[in-house]
Amino acid sequence: MKSTFSLTQSVFFVGFMGAGKTSVARSVARTCSVAEIDMDHYLERRYEKKIADIFAESGEPYFRSLETKVLRDILAFDPHLVSCGGGVVMARENRELLKQACVVYLKVSLEETVRRISDPSSRPMLQDLEKAEKLNLERVILYEEVASITVDTLGKSVNEITREVKSELLKKGILCQQEK
Ligand code: S3P
Repeated sequence: MKSTFSLTQSVFFVGFMGAGKTSVARSVARTCSVAEIDMDHYLERRYEKKIADIFAESGEPYFRSLETKVLRDILAFDPHLVSCGGGVVMARENRELLKQACVVYLKVSLEETVRRISDPSSRPMLQDLEKAEKLNLERVILYEEVASITVDTLGKSVNEITREVKSELLKKGILCQQEK
């Protein structure tokens, strides 16, 4: 019989583009039958616009202001597994909000990011590789600042990362196996 699980609080997946935040959050959610939400998809639905178009038409600061609004919305929801956009940690306000929750940092190198993202046109922050490298280095310290759990994704499959995250969440009592 398939075990059922519940979350005691929301879990936010952070890390650079291509770290696997969406795939891993979805995979843990499916394995444990808990709710999952992708911040970028939620933002695109709420504002009825693609992220690349928001950047092109209104610029990055405007996108970041929407990102904070969306983070606040999601924090008010029942517990979910939440995959965040890679830049969510840039605003101090967001980092303070994230620190109130459980944060899983998925570590990835820029080399691996480039290998994993087949269509970089949808990622405005990945248009200039030199800038992206600098950004990745700047953000590492911010990801570490908010992280409750860190998983290095190098050389691991989504299933392996899923098992690691699940075991850490169980250990911390954030994911609980339901009594039958
Ligand atoms: C961004 C990452 C993207 C998206 C936006 C900005 C960033 O999300 O939020 O393009 O600043 O790193 P992913 O990390 O899911 O690609």
